[in-house]
Order: sequence, then structure tokens, then C-alpha cells
Amino acid sequence: MEPASLVIFGITGDLSRKKLVPAIYDLAYCGQLPPEFDLVGFARDTSEVESRLRESVTEHARTPFDPAVWQALVSRLSLVKGTFDDLDAFTRLAKQLDVLDRKHGKVGNYVFYLSIPPSAFAAVCSQLAASKLHRSRRGWRRVVVEKPFGHDLSSSQELGRILEQVFDPQSIYRIDHYLGKETVQNILALRFANGLFEPLWNSKHIDHVQITMAETVGVTGRAGYYDGVGAARDVIQNHLLQLLALIAMDEPSAFDADSVAGEKIKVLSATELLHPLDQTSARGQYGSGTEHGLPVVGLTDEVGFPPDSTTETFAALTVGINTRRWAGVPFYIRTGKRLARKATEIAVTFKLPSHGTAAARTGAVPNVLVFRVQPDDGIELQIGAKRPGEGMHIQPVSLGMDFRSVFDPAPEAYERLICDVLRGDATLFPRREEVEYSWRIIDPLLQHWAQSGRPETYRAGSAGPASADWILAGSGREWRSLE
Ligand code: BG6
Repeated sequence: MEPASLVIFGITGDLSRKKLVPAIYDLAYCGQLPPEFDLVGFARDTSEVESRLRESVTEHARTPFDPAVWQALVSRLSLVKGTFDDLDAFTRLAKQLDVLDRKHGKVGNYVFYLSIPPSAFAAVCSQLAASKLHRSRRGWRRVVVEKPFGHDLSSSQELGRILEQVFDPQSIYRIDHYLGKETVQNILALRFANGLFEPLWNSKHIDHVQITMAETVGVTGRAGYYDGVGAARDVIQNHLLQLLALIAMDEPSAFDADSVAGEKIKVLSATELLHPLDQTSARGQYGSGTEHGLPVVGLTDEVGFPPDSTTETFAALTVGINTRRWAGVPFYIRTGKRLARKATEIAVTFKLPSHGTAAARTGAVPNVLVFRVQPDDGIELQIGAKRPGEGMHIQPVSLGMDFRSVFDPAPEAYERLICDVLRGDATLFPRREEVEYSWRIIDPLLQHWAQSGRPETYRAGSAGPASADWILAGSGREWRSLE
């Protein structure tokens, strides 16, 4: 890695304290930061930043707190106080970066991490341009942006335009932290580095696919971000459609940024909601109930949410992919907060053997291949085996592998992604087209819901709203159990 400076806008914000700075500390602990690495924080209030960051590192870092590592890191931390509309502050930032370059013999490689609301992207980008920080003939410049990338397709296109007016498209890194998870990257390894799966990976053999992201946590304390956003925009538009793309894409010619993005874009551009939407989708909002056995209030009683909030905390939908490989295979996607258990997984259900009679008589079960993203990340394959005793009675049994029992603990997603930005490897970052195709897929559903009144209330700690079951009713399929 080349020497570089990383500037975090919003260094005192939630994401920075819980994820970014702890991940940078973990990289420092593991000796994986570039040589001559400087961290620069830009914030309105720079008082006690160092002690606040130290606290978040002790609380959230993956690796143990080592005072020597921390000291080395903060000895290279500088802070610039200012607001996004203050050109003087950006001039001070430019000077500070230049001082660091001269002091440490660096050539001006800068990453600008916009850990700020998208409404502030335009102001920061134009100030970076006005202070001539966005381009350089000597070092490279990269910008990192966090979701939400817009509210719908047109606002996302507008954000893309704002960023590309200032930065070269190949220097823009859009973070989707799911792509930094080792188990998510393993989807491609398992599919393409093994001969077993790919010949069966099509509509001839696959009955349907379920993608689930269930959480037990609610949105306490997140009203400012979550109200009016909801589950579909929060995680389906990004994390879950990225999982779909990885499960459904063709094999890339190489595992590099262009080849992987090219295949994902082909899949996302061929993906569409199945209709009619009131039968193929469902949404819900958690009411009161329990979380891990303790009583919790419903969403509209959470601080910051209006009593008439229609924000959904559960969303389920069905999409199809218009390609020869996937014609007729439904992909069911669901996510929810305050559900019975935490589970992110992709379950690929195969068709029963076609020469039916023996299979039917013995009670054959469909094979199901499950990618468990978290928790207990691993792979599971359901197969049918003969139950001991008389006759030929088939019972589902499971073959499994836990990554943790085979490999050392994996780095956190943000460690991997920050490292990749510093290295200049964009393979794990969605491109603008991927983001826009994903909005194009869910926009009609968001519009449909905007005209459909309130979401159904479900009990906190349950498997979600009853209407989610209607999506599969009559198809002979069932959601995988969450209870
Ligand atoms: C974030 C969402 O992107 O992902 C949160 O905004 C969600 O609502 C989180 O809780 C889940 O991430 P993880 O890594 O815990 O599955």
C-alpha cells in the first residue's frame, strides 16, 4: 500500500464511532495500515474527540485494546474544526494535509470518507472542489460514500451526478458493508470454485430461493434516520439485492472490479418485481412485544417516531429474473426488525426428483442449500436419508460446515473495505449502475405502499406479519422458520 491520509467527515458521528474508527484501530493492531498513515477528522465540534474515540475503540474494536497501538494511531490524528458551508475550514484542511505530506515525505494520496447524511454530499463535494482537494497531478484522490444512496431512483441519479461532477467515477467507492463480510464473498467461492453446484444452478433444478435478513433489534434511537425510510430502503435496496446478484449472476471472467460488476449489473438489470403486488409482497410495523424475553414498545411509541408513522419495519417481496437461467424461479426476499431470532441467510431450494412415484411414497424432501451469512456463518445442505427401521421412510438430515470451526476469525467488514479503498481495489463496492438498477426494481413497490395506508402491525418477537405468509400460500412452499 502507498502512504496515504484518510479524512473522515463526521468523525464524531455514530457510524464513525461504532464502525470506522474501531476498524481503523483493528487494522493498526494487525499492522495492515499503509506506511505513513495519517487520520484527519473534520467535525463541527472537536472537543474531547480523542477520548471519545478511545472509548469507542475499547467498546467496539474486534482486537484487544493495546495502549501502544492506540498511542501510535492518535499521534497521527489531526482534527479540523468547521462546518460544511465554511470554505475557510476546507482551506485549513487542505493546508493540514499538505503539512502532513511535507512532514512525512508523502505525495498527497487522500481518501475522503463522507460519513455524513447524503443531504450534505453536495456541499462537501463542492467545497472539496473549491479548495482544489478533489484532484491532483501527484497523488490519487478517492471518495467513500455511505448509503442511503438516495430515496428512490431519481434522487439516487441526482446523487450520482453530484459525485461524478467532482470525482472521477472510478475514484468513487460506495460502501455496502454486506459485501465486506467474508461469508458473502464466500458465495462466489462456493459457487464457482466447486464443480458440484454450477451445473444445477438454473430453473431446471432450482424451485425457488429465499433471502432472509431477520433482526431481533428494533430501531430505538434511530428515528432521525429510519422514520420515512423503512426496511425496504434500509436493507433490501442495497444489502439484499446485492446478495441476490451474487447468488444469481453468471461466472465473471476474473474476480476483479470490472468483471464482477459487469455480471452483477446483468442480473440486476433483468430483475423485476412479480405482480400483483398486494399478493407478492407484504409489509409490517412492529408493535409491542418482547426482545430476548424483555418487554419492548412498538415503533410508534419509540422516541422520535410520530404516532401515525407508516414506516415499515418488515418488508417482503418477490422478484423474478428474466434470463434463460432463471426463467420462472421466484426469489422471495424478506427482512424485519424485532423478529423472533437473528438470521441472515440465503436458502436455495431444489426441485424434487422428477421421477416422482418412489419419491412421493417414501416422503422425499427437497434438497436445500443454505448460505448462513450470520450468525453461525457457514453452509448447510439438507438431504433426505432413510430413517432406521422397517420400510423406506425418508427423513431430512443436514450436512453442515461452520466457517468458525475451520478458519481463524475473519476481519470485520469495515476493516476489509477500508483496506480495499486504501489499496484502490473496487471489487467489493457497488457501482452506480447497480445502485440505480436496485432502485428501479423496488421503486414500483415503494409507490404502491405509499398509496396503501398503514402497514400491518406484528408482535415484537414474532416471525413478522401474517400477510407475509400469504405470499407463499398456494405455492406449496413455506418461509423458513424464524421461531
Ligand atoms: C445497516 C442497516 O445497513 O445494516 C441497519 O442500516 C441494520 O438497519 C444493519 O441493522 C445490519 O448490519 P449487520 O452487519 O449487523 O447485519
